[in-house]
Amino acid sequence: MTKLSGIRACVFDAYGTIFDFASAAARCADIPEEKRGALTMLWRDKQLQYTWLRTLQGRYADFWQVTGEALDFALESLGLASPALRERLMQLYLTLEAFPEVPETLRTLRATGFTTAILSNGSPAMLEAVVRGAGLHDLFDAVLSADAVKAFKTHPSVYEYGLRALGVGAHETSFQSSNAWDAYAASAFGMRVVWCNRYGQRPERLPGAPDHEVRSLAELPELLTA
Ligand code: LAC
Repeated sequence: MTKLSGIRACVFDAYGTIFDFASAAARCADIPEEKRGALTMLWRDKQLQYTWLRTLQGRYADFWQVTGEALDFALESLGLASPALRERLMQLYLTLEAFPEVPETLRTLRATGFTTAILSNGSPAMLEAVVRGAGLHDLFDAVLSADAVKAFKTHPSVYEYGLRALGVGAHETSFQSSNAWDAYAASAFGMRVVWCNRYGQRPERLPGAPDHEVRSLAELPELLTA
């Protein structure tokens, strides 16, 4: 195992990497149990597609709007459309659970001297709520939103913004994402990348090559050195 050396900052994607987006539907008792998985997947897929399409079209709207519109699509597709359910799920998205290993991993990284940050498509208000709700606000040096550049990942301006805000170079940054597309794009951009392949995704056929693939962020600290 080759450690990534010369690292100063550990930068994390938020949804799916730090926070479990499935915990919204899972905590919503009024969705029939057999539809929760399908709703989570369709909601997430549409949310991502809309970020890419809006960025491609130069028609940015913040992640809160995009997430709501994706939810409308998903609820309607599954025959679940209802304003009250929409409202509940959107509120639950603000209080997603963090994956269990996250707090300890962040504490270890910070004790080692790494800067820790989130770089996410989430709007500033969404990120503030979800980070606080999970009790992680003291464990990140910075919470950075793509909203600052009015584009979504994988637009290079988002990764560029992250580095600029932290004052670190791409090669001094270890970027962690559970989303293969995000991991590959950050690697193509020049960051060092640890792909946290929680969902057992297949490798992408896209530019970039993650330096390491792990199943949980608990494996991260031993892969990095200053
Ligand atoms: C994010 C989503 C895309 O946090 O996972 O940026």
